[in-house]
Amino acid sequence: MSCSGVSVGVFLPLFMCFWLYLGLQKRKLIRTKQMFFELNGGLFLQQQISNYNGTSTGTGGFKIFSKEELEKATSNFAADRILGRGGHGIVYKGDLEDKTVVAIKKSKMTEEVPTKEFAREMFILSQINHKNVVKLLGCCLEVEVPMLVYEFVSNGTLYQYIHGSRGLDSDTGFHTCLRIAVESAEALAYMHSSASPPILHGDVKTANILLDDKLTAKVSDFGASKLAPTDEAQMATLVQGTCGYLDPEYLMTCRLTDKSDVYSFGVVLLELLTRKKALYFDGPEEDRSLVLCFMMAVKVGQHQDLLDSQVRDEMRIEALEEITHLVMRCLNMSGEERPTMKEVAERLEMLRRYHHHPWAQADANPEEEQSLLAME
Ligand SMILES: *[C@@H]1O[C@H](CO)[C@@H](O)[C@H](O)[C@H]1NC(C)=O
Ligand SMILES: *[C@@H]1O[C@H](CO)[C@@H](O)[C@H](O)[C@H]1NC(C)=O
Ligand SMILES: *[C@@H]1O[C@H](CO)[C@@H](O)[C@H](O)[C@H]1NC(C)=O
Repeated sequence: MSCSGVSVGVFLPLFMCFWLYLGLQKRKLIRTKQMFFELNGGLFLQQQISNYNGTSTGTGGFKIFSKEELEKATSNFAADRILGRGGHGIVYKGDLEDKTVVAIKKSKMTEEVPTKEFAREMFILSQINHKNVVKLLGCCLEVEVPMLVYEFVSNGTLYQYIHGSRGLDSDTGFHTCLRIAVESAEALAYMHSSASPPILHGDVKTANILLDDKLTAKVSDFGASKLAPTDEAQMATLVQGTCGYLDPEYLMTCRLTDKSDVYSFGVVLLELLTRKKALYFDGPEEDRSLVLCFMMAVKVGQHQDLLDSQVRDEMRIEALEEITHLVMRCLNMSGEERPTMKEVAERLEMLRRYHHHPWAQADANPEEEQSLLAME
């Protein structure tokens, strides 16, 4: 009797302490989540969404996800769910409760403090509806580094398509590449012109151009540059991007512009034309820059040798010269001299049509064509 009295006397307080401890931990967890949510601009975003809710533009189904939802969708971020790893973080494949398949981007920790600016950019990106831009479906803010939820694009990246083993076969051919180039250029042009200030990509490369089951291009990862820094101190530490694609002017000034995207897109075009990587390995030397090799070859008039043999066979010589000229303009050292993304898209579209029906425009005058395009 006294024995159980003792054990109750000992265990009851212990049990209550434990229970209290659990309760406090849970409260702390909820408070932490709420803190991150607010730090990441969650309240602002919520307000924006409800403001737009019911208006004719709608929110396009943009959703703020809870941490648990995303953990469940990815089986707790299991390794076999990983779709890819990039400089910015890891992308997981997720299955939402309503059976939607999504790609969830979990960024690496950064030292920057998340801001309301982030939420604002998220909101702008969520409003974008373009068939060649990967749709942003939502985000999760109650974690230290926000996670982004995108539509899932099934058929890999343009990088894999060009350089991978399944590669380009003769029945896909260069006209598919040209179409993908047009679509990507249109997506970038659209983003540059759709908002003010323009939405810049900041990391245009073939690994960021996804392909769906019909090989339609979908540009992903807009706003790698999302926290477009405003003060100088921040800027110096924030030059991001990928070696081989980086605009040299951006490196010098640390100021990302729409023309930085144009430069990087020039490298993408070169990759399509040569089927070499932006930094490629060639014999005993170390990596070589595709841009430098190409520029040197153009200087001595031997750039045709660098082109992929299938491209050389399929494209007419005048189209090749035209596209080479366009690439060189995109790669000009001075951003001001580069064409806009809109012009690049229009020129590529003309080339694509020409490639399809060379006879139809054999003697068309380029001025006339421009106006035809403008009227569409
Ligand atoms: C948006 O409006 C619908 C009904 O019009 C409502 O069911 C939904 O909860 C609203 N969403 C938000 C985020 O306010
Ligand atoms: C990618 O698309 C091509 C062409 O539609 C198709 O043949 C191929 O099976 C697809 N690959 C994957 C991995 O979905
Ligand atoms: C850049 O463009 C200007 C004007 O078209 C041209 O004179 C210059 O040679 C170009 N520079 C390079 C490096 O291509």
